[in-house]
Amino acid sequence: MALPSGFLGLLLLHGMLSGLAQGDVHFYDFVLKETNFTRLCSSKSMLVVNESLPGPVIRVTKGDTVFVNVHNQGDYGVTIHWHGVHQPRNPWSDGPEYITQCPIEAGSNFTYEVIFSDEEGTLWWHAHSDWTRASVHGAIVVMPNNDTGFPFPQPDGEEILVLGSWYKGDVNAEVAEDLEEGSDTPRSDSYIINGQPGDFLPCSAENTYRWQVDHGKTYLLRLVNAAMNAELYFAIAQHVLTVVGLDGSYLKPVVTEYVMISPGQTMDILVTANQTRLGRYYMAARQFDSVRPDDTDYDHINVTAILEYRGNYTPTSTPIFPSSLPTYQDIKSAIYFTDRLRSLADQDHPVNVPKNITTMMYISVSMNSITFDYEGTSQSSLSSSLNNVSWVNPTTDVLLAYYRNMSGFYTTDFPDYPPTFYNFTADTAPDFATDTSQGTRVKVLDYNEEVEIVFQGTTVLDASEDHPMHLHGYNFYVVGSGPGNFDNETDPNSYNLVDPPKMTTVSLPKRGWVALRFKASNPGVWLWHCHLDRHLSWGMNTVFIVKNGDTPETSIREPPTYMPSCEANSSPIRLLNFDHSNKNKFV
Ligand code: C2O
Ligand code: CU
Repeated sequence: MALPSGFLGLLLLHGMLSGLAQGDVHFYDFVLKETNFTRLCSSKSMLVVNESLPGPVIRVTKGDTVFVNVHNQGDYGVTIHWHGVHQPRNPWSDGPEYITQCPIEAGSNFTYEVIFSDEEGTLWWHAHSDWTRASVHGAIVVMPNNDTGFPFPQPDGEEILVLGSWYKGDVNAEVAEDLEEGSDTPRSDSYIINGQPGDFLPCSAENTYRWQVDHGKTYLLRLVNAAMNAELYFAIAQHVLTVVGLDGSYLKPVVTEYVMISPGQTMDILVTANQTRLGRYYMAARQFDSVRPDDTDYDHINVTAILEYRGNYTPTSTPIFPSSLPTYQDIKSAIYFTDRLRSLADQDHPVNVPKNITTMMYISVSMNSITFDYEGTSQSSLSSSLNNVSWVNPTTDVLLAYYRNMSGFYTTDFPDYPPTFYNFTADTAPDFATDTSQGTRVKVLDYNEEVEIVFQGTTVLDASEDHPMHLHGYNFYVVGSGPGNFDNETDPNSYNLVDPPKMTTVSLPKRGWVALRFKASNPGVWLWHCHLDRHLSWGMNTVFIVKNGDTPETSIREPPTYMPSCEANSSPIRLLNFDHSNKNKFV
C-alpha cells in the first residue's frame, strides 16, 4: 500500500510528539554568583549556584526533560555538566568546556536541555571548567515512574549527602599557578558533608550537618562523591548500609558496614534507623589513599555529620564513631567492596552486555612528566596521559569543530594500544615511560559499534594509584578487573557477562586493570577522563566521536540556536596551561 508522503510526515510528527509526551518538562534557574562562606575559621568568597553549597537539587521522574537556564553573574566563564545523564543525541548540552561547548561568559546565560532516558536513582551536576566544580555542584534525583516503582520496598523517607572538598584559598587561582609552574596542585584543607567539615575540624562543630531520623523507619540515602581528588570511605556508626543503586542503575543489594565511593560516583543506599538506643551516631568519611605507604600527604581528618534520632532522651556527650570505617590506606577493603557490585538484572532492569566486540582498546593510564620550552629554557612539568597522549584542549570545542567540519582543531589518531609495552605494574617502570607527548587526539567510533576497553594502571613515576575513569554520554558494564598486567588470553575467561554492574565512573585499581563494555548507540562527542581533577588538568582524558547512524533519529540533534562563542576565552587555568603546552601541540 502506498501512503501519501504527507501521511508519513504526520506519522513521524505524531511519533515525535508522543516521544516527547513520555516525560514531564521542568525548568530551573541557576544563578552563579560569588558568595561568602566561612569554614575552618576563615572566610572567602566563591562561585556557587543560588547562594548555596551544595547547590539546588534537580528532581525528576525517569524520562523527563529539564531546561536549566544558567545565569553567570560571576567573574569568569563557566560550564555545567549533568554527570551520568546520557543526553541521547544531545551532546550540545553535555557541558565540558572545549569538548562540547565554550564557557558561558561572565554576564551572559545559557540554557541547557537535559534529557533523561533510562537513568534512575541518584546522579549529580557540576561545573566542568577549571576547578570550579569544587563549589558548583549538586544532586540530581531521578524517581522511578509509577508503573515500575522502586525495585525494593518504598522507603519511608529520603536523605541526600554530598561529599565535597574544602579549600581555604582561591582554588582556581592556585591551580592556575601550579599548572603554569608544572608543580603539584593544592590539597584540600578538609572534606565536607553537605557543605560542613564536622566536629573534628576547627571552628566547625556548631554547624555540623545533622540528619534527623525516626526510630524504625527506612530511608533512601543518596550519596554523592563530589570531592575533587579523593576516593572516600563512608560509614554510619552501628547502622548497616544496603547499597541498591550506583550511578543511576540498580544493583543487587549489597549489605555492608562501609562503602568506598570514587569521585564522580553516586550511590543509593537503604538505611534503617533500628538502634534501640535512641541517640546520635556519626556518619563519617575519610580519604582512601591508594598512592604509596610513604606518601602521607593526604587529608587525615575525618569529615563527619550526625545521624540523630528524634525523641525524648539524653544523648551521650559525644556521638558514636563508626568503627567499621576502613583506614586511609586499606586497599583490601576497597577491592572487597567493589568486587561485590552486581547489576540487579531483573525483568524490569535487563542486562544487555555487548558480546560481539568490534572495537577493542587497551589503554595505559599514567602519570608522566613533560618537557616544555618556557621562555627559552627547557623545563619539566607534571603531566598525565592515556596511551601516552596527554590531552590539550583546542581553542574551539571539539563538538563544534566536528559538526561544522572545521579542520585543525583535533586529530583522529588516538591510539588503540600503548605505544610501547613494558611491565606496566612492576615496582619500577622503565625510564622511557616517563615522557609523554601532548595532543588533541580523539577516537572515532561508528554508530552502534560494540566497544571493549581495558584500562591498565601503571607505576610510572612511582605514582600508581586508583583512577576513577568516567565516560560522558553513556554508562558501561564493568565486566572484569584484577591486579597486575591484563592478560588478553586468560583474563577474559573470568569476565562477568551475566550481571556486571553498570556505571558511569569506575575505579581503575592501583597496579591493576579494569575491563568494560558499551554499545556506541549515542552519536555525539563524548569526553572520557579520570575524575581526579588534578589528573584531568594534566591531560588524563580523551574524546570519543560517535558517528551518526543512517537516520535522523540516530543522528546528533541540531544545535540550539545559541551556543556560547569560543572567541572570548576567559578560562584562567586553560589559558595559562595552554600558553606553554600549545608549543608542543601537534602540527
Ligand atoms: Cu563528573 Cu566529566 O564529569
Ligand atoms: Cu587519575
